[in-house]
Amino acid sequence: MRIVLLGPPGAGKGTLAGLIKEEYGVLHVSTGDILRAEMKSGSDLGNEMKKYVESGALVPDEVVTRIVAKKLKELDLTQGIMFDGFPRTKQQAQDLDRILKELGFPIEATLFMEVDLPVIIQRLTGRRVCKDCGAVYHLTNMPSKKAGVCDSCGGQLYQRADDNEETIRNRMDVYMSNTAPVIDYYEDQGKLRRVDASQKTETVVKALSDILENSNG
Ligand code: AP5
Ligand code: MG
Repeated sequence: MRIVLLGPPGAGKGTLAGLIKEEYGVLHVSTGDILRAEMKSGSDLGNEMKKYVESGALVPDEVVTRIVAKKLKELDLTQGIMFDGFPRTKQQAQDLDRILKELGFPIEATLFMEVDLPVIIQRLTGRRVCKDCGAVYHLTNMPSKKAGVCDSCGGQLYQRADDNEETIRNRMDVYMSNTAPVIDYYEDQGKLRRVDASQKTETVVKALSDILENSNG
């Protein structure tokens, strides 16, 4: 199953993918995670991307699409794949369709995770992420057992540079103008499913499991 997780910042895309990927053995490609890893490595590309990611602006389409195309060539797509944070513009969606068509594994469904701004701000200002393994926590919604320490690997938890209220609002504006058209793009193809992502994680997981279990592949 090839599926796109689509939704505003803080909708829970990374959390959902993290919960699903082991049970179903589905690959998870998050362009945000790839870009942050690149920034952490100190590469020229990472340094160049920092200004976009930390301000909540979009990285240019051609850069992100090139990264994804390279990654897809390294993966075994027969395992199934969840895209998280990509595509984020109509151009990226068209490019992804073209790349996957060439590889013979087209997108089958898109899960649109709907949440409104007050929930988004509460989730993102309270989010903490493991600097070693990338596991996602929340100070009150999903706290780690020991404050500041990752339950899975013992790594230190940190707050993302773009998780402050001003940058979150900027990310939302960018989402509304650039990413919202991607919803129509998949709806027009008859591939869009919706879920109220403000519900508890188990309910959102169930919505995605239903899609995965009702697929043929
Ligand atoms: P990216 O990393 O993709 O950030 P985002 O889209 O803003 O999404 P988030 O990761 O903030 O939210 P999420 O939906 O994954 O929520 P999460 O599961 O963590 O992108 C970052 C930046 O990189 C962009 O701004 C841009 O600069 C660049 N970029 C990336 N992709 C790009 C692209 N394709 N093109 C151009 N630029 C690109 O959950 C959030 C919090 O809520 C957590 O604390 C979690 O514990 C909690 N939570 C989750 N679900 C629930 C629930 N059901 N109930 C209660 N709490 C919950
Ligand atoms: Mg994420």
